[in-house]
Amino acid sequence: MIETKVFALEPSAPDHAAITLAATCLQEGGLVAFPTETVYGLGANALMPSAIEKIYWAKGRPSNNPLIVHLARLDQLEQVAVNIPPVTWALAEHFWPGPLTFVLPRHADVPAAVSAGRDTIAVRIPAHPVALALLEAAAVPVAAPSANRSTRPSATSAQHVIADLGGRVDVILDAGMASIGVESTVIDLTRETPLLLRPGGVSLEDLQALVPSLVRYVPDHDSDEATAEPVSPGMLYKHYAPKAKVLLYEGDDRAVLTRMRADAIALQATGQRVGLLLPEDAIATFDAADTVIESVGRRGDLDSLAFTLFAHLRALDAQNVDVILVQQVPNTGLGAAIADRLSRASEGNLIKV
Ligand code: TXA
Ligand code: MG
Repeated sequence: MIETKVFALEPSAPDHAAITLAATCLQEGGLVAFPTETVYGLGANALMPSAIEKIYWAKGRPSNNPLIVHLARLDQLEQVAVNIPPVTWALAEHFWPGPLTFVLPRHADVPAAVSAGRDTIAVRIPAHPVALALLEAAAVPVAAPSANRSTRPSATSAQHVIADLGGRVDVILDAGMASIGVESTVIDLTRETPLLLRPGGVSLEDLQALVPSLVRYVPDHDSDEATAEPVSPGMLYKHYAPKAKVLLYEGDDRAVLTRMRADAIALQATGQRVGLLLPEDAIATFDAADTVIESVGRRGDLDSLAFTLFAHLRALDAQNVDVILVQQVPNTGLGAAIADRLSRASEGNLIKV
């Protein structure tokens, strides 16, 4: 265990002394958890192999799952990537700083451990004033996966980081809730056809407006697990999972609600503690039942669902539910990112109504 220092910062005017201390910690090879607009990141100096090793250790992350490097400014891109295709600059101009990550050919100066031995590198400029202040002050590229223990839901608040990584990181910068709540969209620009590897904060539709040839990669688990370098390594692992089992319902709103209620009652009858993620208008349906309910806001409000999703999964775990029932969302816009996280949290427990 190491001593973890936590600093509460005003997002719009982060305290200079705390930023300087955290930046020095990064430069010297320490671990700093910091807020981004998507989720909290667990940062380390990307140019220092010993610091990178600490990330994998702190998270318990499989060593073959590569990290995203974070930059403060576009002029740092050529320090970490080479043979940058022209489309990169157009996308960066439009979407950076922001929740979009590019996979590009890796610069030889970046230790291979950052990308788990691959010759590519994932990189983004985050749009959060605290992240940008830290990256600017550190003046080195910063590798930062989501600041959760491996397999757990990502951390969208400093409290989540403390719960998962307290005693394993040197510094945590607390600037309240991350504003988007799901991770960045990852696109691979090293292939003939650009591939969307992970849906996230920027939608496929918005990206296709600039890059019409962009397609979403559909993981093929059999062939991916058979190769040393799967196309989208992060998609292979158990992920975003609360301790409770997640049951995911797909179908017409009313039919799903009826089925969820029947299942909730049946599960309770077997002695299980049932948790539900529900839109406001559906909560009354469950009032009589003795369930633990987390409200996700107005039905169809995807921004609100993304913002609270991981916090709700963690909250239900904290209340020791055995099973969580939740309805799947449409696969468009931000819904694609939410649907992906829900489907992976549920590990294939899909109920079509
Ligand atoms: O929003 C985000 O992206 C957050 C914040 C902290 O920036 N970071 C994040 O990192 O979600 P992480 O490590 O949890 O997810 C990184 C994803 C994984 O799916 C990983 O497999 C993929 O990016 N990735 C990283 N480098 C890659 C590479 N060279 N080739 C293919 N996929 C890569
Ligand atoms: Mg992650």
